[in-house]
Amino acid sequence: MTTYDARFRIWRGDADGGDLRDFTVEVHDGEVVLDVVHRLQATQAPDLAVRWNCKAGKCGSCSAEVNGRPRLMCMTRMSVFDRAETVVITPLRAFPVVRDLVTDVSFNYRKALEVPAFVPPQGVGPGEYRMQQVDVDRSQEFRKCIECFLCQDTCHVVRDHEENKEAFAGPRFLMRVAELDMHPLDAAAAAGLDRRRTAQEEHGLGYCNITKCCTEVCPEGIRITDNALIPLKERAADRKYDPLVWLGNRILRRRPDTE
Ligand code: SF4
Ligand code: SF4
Ligand code: FES
Repeated sequence: MTTYDARFRIWRGDADGGDLRDFTVEVHDGEVVLDVVHRLQATQAPDLAVRWNCKAGKCGSCSAEVNGRPRLMCMTRMSVFDRAETVVITPLRAFPVVRDLVTDVSFNYRKALEVPAFVPPQGVGPGEYRMQQVDVDRSQEFRKCIECFLCQDTCHVVRDHEENKEAFAGPRFLMRVAELDMHPLDAAAAAGLDRRRTAQEEHGLGYCNITKCCTEVCPEGIRITDNALIPLKERAADRKYDPLVWLGNRILRRRPDTE
């Protein structure tokens, strides 16, 4: 086994402020960033706060920014870095710091709650649902999400604009709206819920300018922009420019009791 000493610069602090601190830590062959952070905790900084759980890229807990890029620390091999470079690890920038590398991601849980759940179809019992395989495959891709929130962190709509958080659900939850809107058995429309309208008016779909940064950082390789956000935008635009919807809106606007 070969080992070497790597230089790290890690953000330490809390909600009141902090700074980058330098450490030199031993690295072993085949290790990932999280292994080295654990060695740092064990040998030099026992109070370093870091969140992790599975060490297998499946729980979505160990999200941080490594050299400025949102990544899972347990899936980032040390071998991708030059041995001479200093590896900089900072907490997710879009969310408030709790301590060191741990951030408060509750923004995402609030946004999750704002998306109305699947509406079961009337008259079809559990076990009687039938779908085409192509429809199953489509939502299966979105279901791979491990809720690491790297896409939420990297999206410039909230990353640089705290003020947008109120109106914008972020790519992960717009993807959820898209998944439900594409679901052939979702009976939201029959129950009076127009998911395309709410995507625009309540979840901030219009803020997304399809830069694809969310797709680039997704550790599950979900094509968030191409397969969820763009189709949802197209469906929302179809609704807006649908002549029947337009006519319906005109008639409603003309009613005296709606004026
Ligand atoms: S594609 Fe849209 S949701 Fe994704 S990062 Fe860009 S603006 Fe944000
Ligand atoms: S869509 Fe990808 S990047 Fe976003 S939370 Fe899910 S797994 Fe993470
Ligand atoms: S520790 Fe679970 S995804 Fe990294």
